[in-house]
Amino acid sequence: MISTAPGIDIQRVERSRLQETDLEHLKFGRVFTDHMFVMDHTDGAWQRPRIMPYADLELSPATMVLHYAQTIFEGMKAYRNGDGGVSLFRPQANIARMNRSAKRMCMPHIPEDLFLQGLKELARLDANWLPDGPDAALYIRPFMYASDEYIGVKPSGDYRFMIFMCPVRGYYQEPLRVYLEMKYSRAFPGGTGEVKCGGNYAAGLYPTKLRQDQGYHQQVWTDAMEHKYIEESGTMNVFFIINGVLTTPSLDGTILPGITRDSILTLARERGLPVEERKVSVEEVVAGLHNGKVTAAFGAGTAATIAPIKVIGHDGTDHELPDLGADSEVNLIGKMLDDIRRGRVEDKHGWVVRVA
Ligand code: COI
Repeated sequence: MISTAPGIDIQRVERSRLQETDLEHLKFGRVFTDHMFVMDHTDGAWQRPRIMPYADLELSPATMVLHYAQTIFEGMKAYRNGDGGVSLFRPQANIARMNRSAKRMCMPHIPEDLFLQGLKELARLDANWLPDGPDAALYIRPFMYASDEYIGVKPSGDYRFMIFMCPVRGYYQEPLRVYLEMKYSRAFPGGTGEVKCGGNYAAGLYPTKLRQDQGYHQQVWTDAMEHKYIEESGTMNVFFIINGVLTTPSLDGTILPGITRDSILTLARERGLPVEERKVSVEEVVAGLHNGKVTAAFGAGTAATIAPIKVIGHDGTDHELPDLGADSEVNLIGKMLDDIRRGRVEDKHGWVVRVA
């Protein structure tokens, strides 16, 4: 879509907070760069966007998002290249997914070129916040919320779209312990499972807390109708190696179509690995854990990257999985993905967008 936007007004911070920030010891999502992007949708149209110093929001208690959760978001990253430059990874895929979320949640379409321009300008402006190191990135959080001051239930008239960034290292610090969830549900057919709206995450908090109290990092959601088929984990898509085949649940409307998921599948197929996207039953996975047919499992997401799963709990029993091993196909794919993101190998897919 062609944007009619005239450009972005940029107001820089008078003094950067970078000097007083410890980029070596970062808590994921707790540290924010100097600037943020803001664009309001009022009177039925997007208003002139601006980049301004990162700051708190002032909201009326009646702001609609606070009541009915009409809010969507994305998660993406900017990476440092070998030559010191900065790149975004598949931003067009995040932009397209955010607009699918917007449609499902009755929110306005964001012009793609303006969205990309905002991402690039912001990443360029705060590029010096990008930490060094193998897991380091700028985690970018675009989001949109219902900004009308009204307490009736209807789509908001006005919206605010924003982007801010966090310097980050890893999301998970250790191999994961997950539990196959057979009681609570994250999503159901016809619901919002395949879009990235705040409510999906809110609904998962209580069941996740129950599992975390039992020593697991996350649960693995199963389908809401029968709790028979595996769907995804709280912050990630899930993959298994079953009989040597890289296997992941197919996207059936209740699973978030992860961009890391898609990138892994693409690279695996190119490497000639057997790959299956299909229904994966709890029964099959539990049997495979017993008889050794399931030899590995991992989660994949922007924040989590590739997160090895060490334990799968089910029905009161913990099933241990062996370490992936540095030269396992999964880790080789992870390395290839990282090499592409950081410009160390040719980007044959056109996934990388250079910003600085
Ligand atoms: C991401 O991986 O970017 C996510 O959105 C997960 C998150 C809620 C941290």
